[in-house]
Amino acid sequence: MSDYPINMAIIPQVKAFFDEATNTLSYVVKDPDSNVCAVVDSVMDIDMAAGRITYDHADAMITHIEAEGLRLEWIIETHVHADHLSAAPYIQQKLGGEIGIGEKILVVQDTFGKIFNEGTEFQRDGSQFDRLFRDGDTYQVGGMTCFAIHTPGHTPACMVHVMGDAAFVGDTLFMPDGGSARADFPGGDAGQLYDSIQKVLALPDAMRLFMCHDYGPNGRDIQWQTTVAEEKAHNIHVGGGRTREEFVKFRTERDATLAMPRLILPSLQVNMRAGEVPRDVDGNPVLKVPVNRL
Ligand SMILES: [Fe+2]
Repeated sequence: MSDYPINMAIIPQVKAFFDEATNTLSYVVKDPDSNVCAVVDSVMDIDMAAGRITYDHADAMITHIEAEGLRLEWIIETHVHADHLSAAPYIQQKLGGEIGIGEKILVVQDTFGKIFNEGTEFQRDGSQFDRLFRDGDTYQVGGMTCFAIHTPGHTPACMVHVMGDAAFVGDTLFMPDGGSARADFPGGDAGQLYDSIQKVLALPDAMRLFMCHDYGPNGRDIQWQTTVAEEKAHNIHVGGGRTREEFVKFRTERDATLAMPRLILPSLQVNMRAGEVPRDVDGNPVLKVPVNRL
């Protein structure tokens, strides 16, 4: 842990955008010492029944970035999301910036390339992305030296991104009263997820943690920000010193009761292509529904 270039003195401005359709949080993160920003986990709107894609959520982020006079340098995906579609290419086309994800995207592309019976034109080398991060890799958002921590378990390519005193935890953790994300998708592993969560909890107590999802458990309002100290003390799945064995048993039993996310089929096809919608032989955007494969 000590090898990561942690700098709690850098305090970026974080603006959250909540997507009610998928309970996803997207973020614009601004370097405190320049006008440079990053986007974390954007959302593209889809009406599956109609097969219609729109960009209201992404447009709200773009409007904010333009109104603040910011320059977008990075479009980060914490992982290949299974519950919403990324708007990364749409935002990149409007504002520029590089799209980055964990290098284990190759594992995800191989797994789901088979499930969706993708042809040879679907490259499984991560080349749809501009940057593939390994554990500990750094990148600049203006003056901020940011870094990625490999946190597999929910999916193989999950990474937590740390920018100054703020960490974007993806689906490793939810708010303390929400616990943790499922670990039963292809390539998921509850034991790995526990180990990855420990990496997050080893960050400084005061580090701000920003969630990718919140479902407002027990009827509370949507929240997305907590700290390492709060998660260590109060997380209902891993806080208070719950052991690895206890977590794996609990997580495995819980996951067996969960339905597939409503948008898993379109999400995976799009997100494993860095947010591009696949196309048919005539070049028209199209999504598949493989039957009885998940
Ligand atoms: Fe996820």
